[in-house]
Amino acid sequence: MDQNEAPVLEALAEHQKLKRYGFTPPAHRQGRGVDQRVLEVLGEQSFKSDVVASSGLDDRKSSNGYLSKAEELMAEAVEADKAFFSTCGSSLSVKAAILAVTRGEGELLISRDAHKSVTSGLVLSGLQPRWIKPRWDNELKMSHPPAPETVEEMWQRYPDASAALIVSPTPYGTCADIEAIAEICHKRGKPLIVDEAWGAQLPFHPDTPTWAMSAGADICVVSVHKMGLGFEQGSIFHLQGNLVDPVRLNQCADILSTTSANVMLYAAMDGWRRQMVQEGKGMIDKALELARGLRRDIDTLPGLHVLEDELVHAEASHDLDILHILFDVSELGISGYQVTDWLRENCRLDLGTNDHRRVEAVISVADDQETADWLLAGLRELIGAAPNLPRPPAVVIPDEADLFLETAMLPRDAFFGPVEVIPVEEAPGRIAAEMATPYPPGVPLLLPGERINQAAVDYLRSGVEAGMVLPDPADPTFKTVRVVREEAHRSF
Ligand SMILES: Cc1ncc(COP(=O)(O)O)c(C=O)c1O
Repeated sequence: MDQNEAPVLEALAEHQKLKRYGFTPPAHRQGRGVDQRVLEVLGEQSFKSDVVASSGLDDRKSSNGYLSKAEELMAEAVEADKAFFSTCGSSLSVKAAILAVTRGEGELLISRDAHKSVTSGLVLSGLQPRWIKPRWDNELKMSHPPAPETVEEMWQRYPDASAALIVSPTPYGTCADIEAIAEICHKRGKPLIVDEAWGAQLPFHPDTPTWAMSAGADICVVSVHKMGLGFEQGSIFHLQGNLVDPVRLNQCADILSTTSANVMLYAAMDGWRRQMVQEGKGMIDKALELARGLRRDIDTLPGLHVLEDELVHAEASHDLDILHILFDVSELGISGYQVTDWLRENCRLDLGTNDHRRVEAVISVADDQETADWLLAGLRELIGAAPNLPRPPAVVIPDEADLFLETAMLPRDAFFGPVEVIPVEEAPGRIAAEMATPYPPGVPLLLPGERINQAAVDYLRSGVEAGMVLPDPADPTFKTVRVVREEAHRSF
């Protein structure tokens, strides 16, 4: 195929050149009806590009096959058998993958460090999760992807599970030994799904951690907006081998998806793939070089320490994507939450993943020395301001023994069954009916169906006091919690 083509992008250019007009959605008619104040912010061009996919960009039969051609080009570029574009984020793609491999019944081996979009797939599907324990670093109080031996043990205990699902890279950039895990799954004829939401750039450079398709995974899911150059919500799932039916996968995505996909997302993914094929290696080289320099520079700043060697060794993760610069701020006597808020307020800088003692800056191919210097200047200012910031309240982190909660009910039954709202002090021993997820990075501490323990309550309550954000519980302060009803009072 000709990787210099970008069929969706080119079709959109043609649509604009021909000045096509449709008596179909979107009703804004390429921006004609849109308020000037909206156009001033969003730009006329974005409305010109917002056209319906069939009977708009393509004809009513999609005879030109722009989208399928773009997907074929994508698959060829990353050496997958098939690629499917989605406009509903990896949040949809992972659910489609789970449904396709399990057919919505039975058991799934799933790493307990999965993102909430993955675990919410368990509520939708009614599956029985069989949790693979990630490695836990008790000193750093953070988890790493599970070891291959742990996956092997889980298959021995649950040989009838339909598939295994792991996350790699994690939002911290740490990576699993996908190759070894894929081999373990394939020995049993079972597929491996890799949530590679953070791995869009991996296929385009040999010095990045292993790309899941090269490591033998059957399905991998990628968010193009996280590490690639596409709009928010653009996601791709890649497929290879014969353990997963591509038609079923596509149909599972279809039943979950919108029927009004935004073609701008497709066009951006299409153009990004072409750019990566043509220039990706050089662009990623520069980003890696920038990240190496920035890691060194941040590490020399007083009170800051960049995590690297601690994250990659036999008991930790298999590999690290160095574009994720995770640094410890505890020596400054302030929390990662405070650092994030301070940089936003005082330096117009936003950082992503943060916790009681760490913050992460993620470098992309769009960064350069100027943006790196901006971050460094912000951090220097922060160091000067830190002594005057209030000391953060302590966060009570659970020990490993208390961290992994018992799954007492199917997540779906706990979520949809009768519930009651109780003060959180009364929660230990009760079964959660809702998720509680420190965000970002978005790994739920508590899932529907899990028996709540005192350590979980202490962690979440002390976390919220210190600045942790919990977007999903009905009471985000976590003073009350929805649990499975056991007595008949205050029910919904
Ligand atoms: C590991 C992981 N998987 C899946 C997702 C969901 O991706 P999206 O935002 O594209 O829906 C995220 C989002 O942060 C994530 O970190």
